[in-house]
Amino acid sequence: MKGSYPHFMLKEIYEQPESLLQTMRGRVLINSQSENKTNALQIKSDVHLGGISQRLSDFKRSSRIIFVACGTSFHSCIAARQVMEELTELPVTIELASDFIDRRTPLFRSDVCVFVSQSGETADTLEALRYAKKCQALTVGVVNVVGSSIARITDCGVHLNAGAEIGVASTKAYTSQIITIVIFALQLSLDSRSKQVRRKEIHDALLALPALVKKTLTDLDEHMKAIAQRLRDNTSILLFGRGYQYATCLEGALKIKELSYIHTEGIHAGELKHGPLALIDENMPVILFASQDACANKVQNALHQLMARGGISNMIIIGTEGDSNLEAFRDKAQLVLVPQTVDCLQCVLSIIPMQLLSYHLTVARGLNVDQPRSLAKSVTVE
Ligand code: F6R
Repeated sequence: MKGSYPHFMLKEIYEQPESLLQTMRGRVLINSQSENKTNALQIKSDVHLGGISQRLSDFKRSSRIIFVACGTSFHSCIAARQVMEELTELPVTIELASDFIDRRTPLFRSDVCVFVSQSGETADTLEALRYAKKCQALTVGVVNVVGSSIARITDCGVHLNAGAEIGVASTKAYTSQIITIVIFALQLSLDSRSKQVRRKEIHDALLALPALVKKTLTDLDEHMKAIAQRLRDNTSILLFGRGYQYATCLEGALKIKELSYIHTEGIHAGELKHGPLALIDENMPVILFASQDACANKVQNALHQLMARGGISNMIIIGTEGDSNLEAFRDKAQLVLVPQTVDCLQCVLSIIPMQLLSYHLTVARGLNVDQPRSLAKSVTVE
């Protein structure tokens, strides 16, 4: 039921503070770390993923982790890859299910393959899963729909618990997928002494996240509606990001194109000079993701390059509150500021304005928000 919302998509966007809470319930534990008299950090369980806890020794023995997914689910894997690599110190690769199947990539018994899917029924992801089983890799499902094919066939897994997602464009499943993979990384690094300070920073930020998502929704809905009015007649929009925000620009572009039918591209900001810069002139709308993280200086460079090519009148910067580096751009670009959180969760907050923008653009263009043309919620054929 849509309740008081005009569309399922808007309802699902607004459900995110609650869906994230549900994803964390019983998994991200409170008051779990303590200091003893000698000030040494005692390692206690601060996360618990029941669905994979029996297989932890298998994960520890594995030589790499391969994530396999399609569309928005693929983007959630990109968003969480860096923290998975950082905490597990294992090589992590991400595969588009369709390409993975085409290549029949070599897989071994020592590989862990994680299949990420909202519906749990996506044909390409399912076929990739069957292939991984044939190769005797350990298969893990990260799935929203309980009882779905991927949930049943994988060796173990975690449900998103995000609640039913009805709108064809995935929103709350995306943010729940990111935090599920982050919790997964916390679980795999539970007994790593050198990671405890970092783990605690992420653990505490997870607990604070639903309230920040709520604030972002309240602060930015009208702002994004106004920006949508300005952008509604454009034929093309380019989105740039890097580091943890690379996934955000890919996902933001997918949301806008699938709903509003405006051509959009999400481009790694490091690729600017390798081609995309030629597209920039004073008429090209540009959305740039700038966070206060390890990539901040490089993103500033990209910003200057874009500004120098004339992308001024149509520049939108999705930044974080309190970032003094962005003050210089206040007169030159539209600043959209989200609250700051730990680097690896910033993408959960910066996708919210993109979800709102794609929604308002679609409404402004008089299109069908919940059922875009030619698309289905669950892609059960290749
Ligand atoms: C986009 C969208 C799709 C799905 C993709 C995979 O908004 O929803 O890109 O993410 O079809 O679907 P699942 O996650 O069900 O495997």
